[in-house]
Amino acid sequence: MSESKLKAPRGTFDVLGEQASVRATLEARARALLEAAGYERIETPVFESTELFSRGVGESTDIVRKEMFTLEDAGGRSLTLRPEGTAPVCRAYVEHGMHKRRQPVKLWYLSSFFRHERAQAGRYRQFWQVGAEALGSEDPAVDAESIVLLTRLLAEMRVGEVRLRLSSLGSLASRSEYRERLKQHLRANEASLAEEVRARIDLNPLRAFDSDHPGTRAVMESAPRLLDHLDAEDLEHFAEVRAMLDGASVGYEVDPTLVRGLDYYTRTVFEFTSDALGAQSGVGGGGRYDGLVEQLGGPPTPGIGWAAGVERILLAGDSPPAAPAPVELFVALDGTDAEARRAGFALLHEARSAGLSAQMDLGGRSLKGQLGHANGLGARYVAVLGDGETILRDTQAGGQEAMPTERVVHAVLRRHHDL
Ligand code: HAM
Repeated sequence: MSESKLKAPRGTFDVLGEQASVRATLEARARALLEAAGYERIETPVFESTELFSRGVGESTDIVRKEMFTLEDAGGRSLTLRPEGTAPVCRAYVEHGMHKRRQPVKLWYLSSFFRHERAQAGRYRQFWQVGAEALGSEDPAVDAESIVLLTRLLAEMRVGEVRLRLSSLGSLASRSEYRERLKQHLRANEASLAEEVRARIDLNPLRAFDSDHPGTRAVMESAPRLLDHLDAEDLEHFAEVRAMLDGASVGYEVDPTLVRGLDYYTRTVFEFTSDALGAQSGVGGGGRYDGLVEQLGGPPTPGIGWAAGVERILLAGDSPPAAPAPVELFVALDGTDAEARRAGFALLHEARSAGLSAQMDLGGRSLKGQLGHANGLGARYVAVLGDGETILRDTQAGGQEAMPTERVVHAVLRRHHDL
């Protein structure tokens, strides 16, 4: 009896073929752009202690409350598949004493993340983000540089119809006074609010700005705005970020209702959306998190960064796949005896050691089938190993030459250099 076919879990997918190739393009562009701006690659573990996210991302967020894949190890420790990358990067900054390095420390990543969400187009349970974090400076130039880099990456990946929304959430101190005002407003209008918003008035009143519920939206129309309650330093910081973006000709809209789904943000916040995406329109977002490193047990350290969804960039973008590497030499066998196969295998590896991209038939094809395969791969040279001699064909210039097998690599290299 045949077993039922197994499938990848809901909300996950395989990356292969052209998808793998466009992703390679994205990775190469991100690396070139970010490393030229002084960002170093970082790769953190796929799972972390659950506490990192409950403390870092925040107990009141949807991510921590309902979207984490959490498991217990044999020793009873609670572990969580990373739902985002900022808290892990800050954990690594503290763990490796990176505050002793020259600041800001700039790190970038392209990694997979996990959220237990309702899967649909553009929203998955395992997805990839490209992200960049700069720790150790509160200079508004770092905010502007970070935003300009994501603007450029999206432009290079030809993401269409992009909108950049920008706001400031103020420092933790100026925000606490505002939170009280907002709570008062919400309490005064409690009857019109969505159940979920009402339940979170004390825990996370700002999230009410994100609600789709019509009654809540009406209440939020008349709610006090955080941007009107920032202190002088925060206002100056925000003005400087905007002036630098203007100087770099980056278009944005100031949106005082912009709140993000993670608790660590302070001061600058931003989000890129693309109308090319439909319902899941967020391509990328980020902001400052000046209290996060300290919250994770490190020294007081400001930070700013962003992450953009790889699948969403590719869905909304129009970037060509990376061209496959050309095959320079194809080794074909005229005959099936073991000795000829061994000689072919030795030639294949001699060619690769000499730096040529080389392939040989591994599927037991006839000579005709092998030549067809070489043709399909676009192989420039084909070496046919026969009884006693090898024939080297030049598929572009035409013509062929008989030679001892051990001369083939040399002959291909010489012809290559003559071109
Ligand atoms: P986030 O807004 O939660 O921010 O996620 C950033 C991006 O990841 C989103 O704009 C979206 O493109 C993509 N994304 C999120 N969830 C999914 C999903 N389920 N399926 C597909 N794509 C998704 C953060 O994660 C912050 N760590 C960003 C940050 C970095 N802030 C400061 N530094």
